[in-house]
Amino acid sequence: MTVTASTQVGIVGAGPAGLLLSHLLALRGIDSIVVENRSRAYCEARQRAGLLEAGTVELLRQVGLGQRMDVEGLEHGGIYLQFAGERHHLDFRDLTGGRWVTIWAQTEIVKDLIQSRLAAGAQVEFEVSDTEVADLDDDRPVLRYTDAAGGRHEVRCEAIAGCDGFHGICRDCMPPGLVRVAERGYPYSWLGILATVPPSTDELIYSRHEDGFALHTMRTPQVSRLYLQVPADEDIEHWPDDRIWAELRHRLELPGWELKDGPITEKAISPMRSFVASPMRYRRLFLAGDAAHIVPPTGAKGLNLAMADVTVLAEALTSLLRDGNHHPVDSYSDASLRRVWRATHFSWWMTSMLHVDPGPDPFGAELQLAQLRYVTSSRAAATTLAENYTGYFPLHWS
Ligand code: FAD
Ligand code: DHB
Repeated sequence: MTVTASTQVGIVGAGPAGLLLSHLLALRGIDSIVVENRSRAYCEARQRAGLLEAGTVELLRQVGLGQRMDVEGLEHGGIYLQFAGERHHLDFRDLTGGRWVTIWAQTEIVKDLIQSRLAAGAQVEFEVSDTEVADLDDDRPVLRYTDAAGGRHEVRCEAIAGCDGFHGICRDCMPPGLVRVAERGYPYSWLGILATVPPSTDELIYSRHEDGFALHTMRTPQVSRLYLQVPADEDIEHWPDDRIWAELRHRLELPGWELKDGPITEKAISPMRSFVASPMRYRRLFLAGDAAHIVPPTGAKGLNLAMADVTVLAEALTSLLRDGNHHPVDSYSDASLRRVWRATHFSWWMTSMLHVDPGPDPFGAELQLAQLRYVTSSRAAATTLAENYTGYFPLHWS
């Protein structure tokens, strides 16, 4: 037997995009349901992004999600760029007239969002299966799922948000031929670790080394996160902990500066790709976050983009569902794609400048070094990096 119900917005996916959308809609008095095929514990533990643009931080504060972030988050006013045996500091506050970024892990944002949604009595269904969206040509599309206990549900919605990540189902539910995809692969991956050791640096170090890229970032004053460029099809079994630390030291250390090591609590390899699907809407089905676009992680844009999409979408859905005003939903896709393409270019540029292609490429290597020298010596070039890194497009939430 199928249990039927109705709500205003059906949301597929309890990642940062889906959960924040549900939270923002609730602030506007709009009901939603969130369905998620993983468990709550899995969603809260999944290690991913860690760096928030100033606008994302301000948004979280404005919508009542800033308390823990303001106590535990780490505000950074710049980064280090390292190449050719030298480390250079970029001071974002000076370059941008006061902008900054904050280290605050995606896991913590997701924990706060889940806790706040459940405390508000919201319907968030974990461990669902067989999610379907249908009747997309109707003004009342339908969301179907099987709950954790095996019961089948059908929810009539006034709109559906596909916040189900890159491997979700919603993008493929758009009518055949509607969605155009622009993408780029990269011939390398990132090996990321979480380690119980205080960071060896006050701000992030992005290092272009002739043997590959490395990044030193952090989660807390006691926990470091580090990344290494590895071959695209690399197997994590080839990277015992000792080898990871040796390679990190090789790519990050400079005379007079040592990398502290410690127990590795998590390690994984992630592929890198740029991918943009457009449009991000078909009638009353809207895509947001990784469901519509992926960027390579260099520059930390993925999470920020996902949260920006749903901020715009929440305002647009409010206008549609509360006031019957179609204009904001009509411009949702184009407005979002402008921001997405800016971040797609920035992430591609940072990635291309800092990673070493497999195979000899002396021309490419000299171009990278010329660009890095320019970014660290010209105020105009440094400002371009700083402005993009701290967030170029303002977010509006009134
Ligand atoms: P997701 O976080 O992917 O959430 C989608 C949710 O939908 C998931 O919980 C999924 O289980 C659920 N779902 C999928 N299919 C269904 C279905 N059929 N039914 C119900 N639920 C479904 N970004 C950075 O800025 N910096 C980083 O260092 C960084 N590292 C990353 C490392 C990895 C391994 C990955 C995969 C991504 C990383 N990102 C990083 C990107 C960033 O984490 C994402 O951009 C962000 O998670 C996007 O949020 P989202 O809510 O759109 O998608
Ligand atoms: C982090 C990840 C990134 O890709 C990046 O550019 C900066 C920080 C992080 O995980 O903290």
